[in-house]
Parts: sequence; C-alpha cells; structure tokens
Amino acid sequence: MQALKFLTPDLVRQIAAAYGTPVYVYSEAVLRKSAQTALAFPNAYGLTVRYAIKANSTGAILSLFNSMGIHFDASSSYEVHRLLLNGVHPSRIQLTAQELAPDLKELVERGIFFNACSLHQLETYGKGFPVRNVSIRINPGIGSGHSNRTNVGGPSSSFGIWIEHLEEIKALAAKYDLTINKLHSHIGSGSDPAVWEKVTKMNLDVVREFPEVHTLNMGGGFKIGRMPGEATTDLQVVGVRVKRFFTNFYNETGRKIKLEIEPGSFLVAANGALICSIDDKVDTGKEGYRFIKTDTGMSEILRPTLYGVQHPIKLVPKNGDIPGMQETVVVVGHSCESGDILTPTPGDAEGVDTITLPRPVIGDYLVIEDTGAYCASMCAVNYNSFPQAPEVLIRENGEATLIRKRQTLEQMVENEL
Ligand SMILES: Cc1ncc(COP(=O)(O)O)c(C=O)c1O
Repeated sequence: MQALKFLTPDLVRQIAAAYGTPVYVYSEAVLRKSAQTALAFPNAYGLTVRYAIKANSTGAILSLFNSMGIHFDASSSYEVHRLLLNGVHPSRIQLTAQELAPDLKELVERGIFFNACSLHQLETYGKGFPVRNVSIRINPGIGSGHSNRTNVGGPSSSFGIWIEHLEEIKALAAKYDLTINKLHSHIGSGSDPAVWEKVTKMNLDVVREFPEVHTLNMGGGFKIGRMPGEATTDLQVVGVRVKRFFTNFYNETGRKIKLEIEPGSFLVAANGALICSIDDKVDTGKEGYRFIKTDTGMSEILRPTLYGVQHPIKLVPKNGDIPGMQETVVVVGHSCESGDILTPTPGDAEGVDTITLPRPVIGDYLVIEDTGAYCASMCAVNYNSFPQAPEVLIRENGEATLIRKRQTLEQMVENEL
C-alpha cells in the first residue's frame, strides 16, 4: 500500500470525524512549494506568475497566493469579484473570459486588465471603454491537451482570436485608438519542452506584428502527473528553453519582452485530497464486477466522468491497520448517474476499470489524491441535492483549519420562490 502524499491515516480519521465526509483537504506547505517553483520560472526580462483561479477559487487559497506576490487570471466577472472580495488589488487581476462581462466597464475603471478573446470583445472594448491599453488572446493554430475536452488551441477550439485574423485586430486597434500592449495564448502546452518552444516561437512571431506589446503571456497547461506513468512538467527545463527565444528575440529586435505564465493545475493539483467514506459494496456476479460505493463522486470530483482520468485512491481503515487481504473493485460515486465512476478506463470516460485495494469494509475511508485543481471548483454541485462539501486547509504548523463549511439544505434552496 502506497503512503498518503501529505496526509497521515490519523489525520484522515481526525478530519473525517471533525467535519464529516466527503471533505476536501489542502496542504499549505505544498501550496507554498508549488508557488515558489512557479515564481522561479526562468525568464530573460521579468516574470509574472498569474494563477488561473478557475482551478480552485476558494478564498483561503487566493489569499495565500496573493500574499506570495502571485497575480491572477479570472475567467468571468464573478471570479474577478471573488478576487476583489479576498483583498486582491485590481492591478493584479486579468480577465480572460468566453463571455463579455456585463459589468466590464466598471471593472476596467477599477483597474482590472482586459484580455480580449474575440474580435467582438475587442470591438466592444474599443467602442465603450476609457482605458486604451488592452491585451489580446490569440489562438496560435495548434492545440495541446490529453483529450479534446482539455485542448484549447487549434481549429476546433473557440478560445482566442484565430491567428489568421491579425489584420482585423490591427484594423480595430487603429479604428478605436487602442494600444495592444500584451499578447496572450493558452493552449495547455503540457510537459513536452519541444511544444513550449514551438508555441513560444509562434507567439513571438505575433509579438513582432504588434510593436507596443511589452508582455507575452504563455498561458498554463503545465502538467501534474497524478497516476503512475503520467509526467509532471519540470518548469526549470521548460523555462530555460522558453527563455532562449526571448533572448534571441531581443538580440534581433531590441525589444525586451516580459514573460507571464498562467498555471492553474500546477499550483494547486497536488496539494489537495478528497476524503470520502465507503457506503456500500455490491457485485454483479462472477462475470461482472465488485463495486465500492462512496459518499462522493461527480458532486465533488467530475474529472473522471468528464475526461476519463483516474486519481490515486488509497484506503484508510476506519479502525485498525491496513488489512493484508486485497480486493479488486470498481469505485463509484453516489450520484444516480451511470457515469459517476471514479475508476473509468483511462482515456475512455465510458469504460469501467478496476483498482486493487486492501480489502475495503463499509465505513472505511478512501483518500482520493491530487484533487486540488478542477475538483472543488468544477463539479456537479447539488446534483441529487448533495450539499457542497467543506474544505479544510492544513496549515504549515500542522493545524487543520476549516476554510469552507459544508453547505446546508437551507442554503441550497434559499433562492427558490
Ligand atoms: C486562459 C487560461 N489560462 C490558464 C489556464 C490554466 O490551465 P492549467 O490548469 O492547465 O494550468 C486555463 C485553463 O483552462 C485557461 O483557460
């Protein structure tokens, strides 16, 4: 049985007893370490690390990163307001959204930086907004990602302004007297340094077309290996390769371009664990499967259902030691939905896979690891009327602090008339 990544069996039992299950747990120490690694990303002419808060937008995490000098990317005006509520200065916030925020003018007046993701967004900004500086998000023509669901570049992606529309961008900038001073692209480039090199070159070619661009944001997409065989991006290796292109660009053009990176997963994925309880065990006979039913699932963790990915799942007995006997099981969630499977076939969300655990007993705990990113912030909240799970942060001194309470039934229905 593999050890838990940052919890101990005793801590799992204590947290489950104090706050119930399912419960998300985060580690401040791991959060700080990831942030420090990102802040050390090699760069030639300056670096801003911008956390993509869609990965996990809980206030305690935002405040921690804010105190470490990290900036933020918001994907809706609601995310912008969440940042403001947590005391983030507007100058640290960029808005990169699929939908035009209804209160964009007010946000821009407060100092939020706008990243136009379509020609329509750029034109709207140009027509009505007092600040003339703007960033543009480009779709550079290639994509990357472990599945179509996570690929955010290339012809099948609606994110950003298509690379062939540079002349239209220039025309809009001229028409509305806009200064395009930042360029952004996020294709989810992953772990392969060669992909980062290719995208850096493509992006710097676009920077060449816009003489006032002083900052190039390369997006996020740095991978965290969750399961055996999955790679974690080495930021130093990627950074050194990216930096070389910025230096060459300066030598060629005399322009020192500042670098921004915009990680989501890299900053938070590995710092999270989801503790749940085993509710039931069923089987479908000799030719079928043994199933473990848990009190979590897509209501707290949607990634297996959405992407066909697995997370490490480890057993912590409610009482006593890890049993010697093992059992091969399918782990499922509690939602009335056949897709609520925590062990799908990797790469095929519709497939069913098994894992082998020390023999689980009803009432035991399962710890689902690497759930800091795109879990609490991206799940099927309130489906089957399960309340939103609480979140706990383990401080550096080892103290487990509740940072979000479990939702109540009253809160779930409070807006109903
Ligand atoms: C605009 C933008 N920036 C950054 C990210 C962060 O990506 P990741 O979590 O893969 O680092 C995303 C995620 O989809 C994004 O849409």
